[in-house]
Amino acid sequence: MAYYSRRLFCFLLCNMVALAFIASSHANLSPTFYDKVCPQALPTIKKTVEAAVKKESRMGASLLRLHFHDCFVHGCDASILLDNATGIQTEKTTPPNNNSVRGYGVVDQIKAAVDKVCGGPVVSCADILAVAARDSVVALGGPTWQVQLGRRDSSSAYANETTDLPGPASNLSALITNFNKHGLNVRDLVALSGGHTIGLARCTTFRSHIYNDINIHPSFARNRQAICPQSGGDNNLAPLDHTASLFDTVYFKNLLKRKGLLHSDQELFNGAAGSTTNSLVKTYSSNFGAFASDFANSMIKMGNIRPLTGKQGQVRVNCRKVNS
Ligand code: HEM
Ligand SMILES: *[C@@H]1O[C@H](CO)[C@@H](O)[C@H](O)[C@H]1NC(C)=O
Ligand SMILES: *[C@@H]1O[C@H](CO)[C@@H](O)[C@H](O)[C@H]1NC(C)=O
Ligand SMILES: *[C@@H]1O[C@H](CO)[C@@H](O)[C@H](O)[C@H]1NC(C)=O
Ligand SMILES: *[C@@H]1O[C@H](CO)[C@@H](O)[C@H](O)[C@H]1NC(C)=O
Repeated sequence: MAYYSRRLFCFLLCNMVALAFIASSHANLSPTFYDKVCPQALPTIKKTVEAAVKKESRMGASLLRLHFHDCFVHGCDASILLDNATGIQTEKTTPPNNNSVRGYGVVDQIKAAVDKVCGGPVVSCADILAVAARDSVVALGGPTWQVQLGRRDSSSAYANETTDLPGPASNLSALITNFNKHGLNVRDLVALSGGHTIGLARCTTFRSHIYNDINIHPSFARNRQAICPQSGGDNNLAPLDHTASLFDTVYFKNLLKRKGLLHSDQELFNGAAGSTTNSLVKTYSSNFGAFASDFANSMIKMGNIRPLTGKQGQVRVNCRKVNS
């Protein structure tokens, strides 16, 4: 009896210790990870991102979104960058990403530049995505933060898990549940949704909102309907806010006026008193400092989602392929 209970005790305790170890493994990330092995890595990424954003400001938005779509699918492991191959089903052509996520070519450019300056494949593709997201936000006028580093790249893609990404038709409770599943709270949800202060969206992602929803400003809806017909024009683009190349508070100001482009955006604000998301939207709309600082903190949290570290995974030679 005592033997069995001791075994049971050890079974429970030992597993708890193992779980605690796994759960804390992302604490191995560090902002100084490449300082000794390749001091030029971060400046090189920054230079390449700045050139790409100068050429096309939307690229900053696209690179930010790439990191988000990487982290929400099996963790920040660059699984999103893998192309179809034997045993690999790419995430790129799954519904949330197909004809939507972009910037893969710029990531290849960054990888080539960084591998050249480091003298080999030292910096992981997952870390490149995290740093490029930060440098993009900075290039468009947003806050900076210290990027945690040391993520390694997956040797698999997870096309079967892209359903973990929230969709634009989601209601507030679905958004909160989705972010919670990734270890992110309501404050993270509202702050990170502020990523929609930059970039564009396709008609197919906001059509239902501008034709069917009630929580939308009527003249804004009519204006967007002119870009996005009831049928056809699925790929027509509209800015997520009207200063789509500036990381500012206009996204939140628009939500107060019921001029959010996506249904999921406007879900964060409906004017109800006593709602947490409503009051966060109000705060961020009039306080860039509060938005900037919460956004930076939440980006670090998002970047900590299930990284591969130590000897897990690999540092890919080509971000699109698993090392052979
Ligand atoms: C809260 C849940 C979210 C939903 C439902 C959502 C949905 C979307 C949709 C539907 C688009 C347009 C895609 C297209 O037209 O094909 C988009 C674009 C974008 N999203 Fe989100 N998103 C969410 C959260 C985030 C987060 C957390 C970030 C980053 C912190 C982000 C950054 C962006 C950016 C920058 C774009 C524009 C990309 C470009 O112009 O290339 N989004 N999002
Ligand atoms: C990758 O393969 C899947 C099926 O295995 C297919 O549905 C998809 O269209 C392919 N994508 C590309 C870019 O070839
Ligand atoms: C992705 O989009 C293309 C159109 O560009 C379409 O032909 C293809 O069927 C889509 N792939 C999947 C897997 O839905
Ligand atoms: C998705 O597929 C991978 C193998 O490619 C597997 O390890 C993982 O458990 C699958 N995820 C789900 C949710 O079934
Ligand atoms: C929100 O969406 C979820 C998932 O689609 C659904 O089950 C739920 O009923 C919706 N909640 C409300 C309040 O509409």
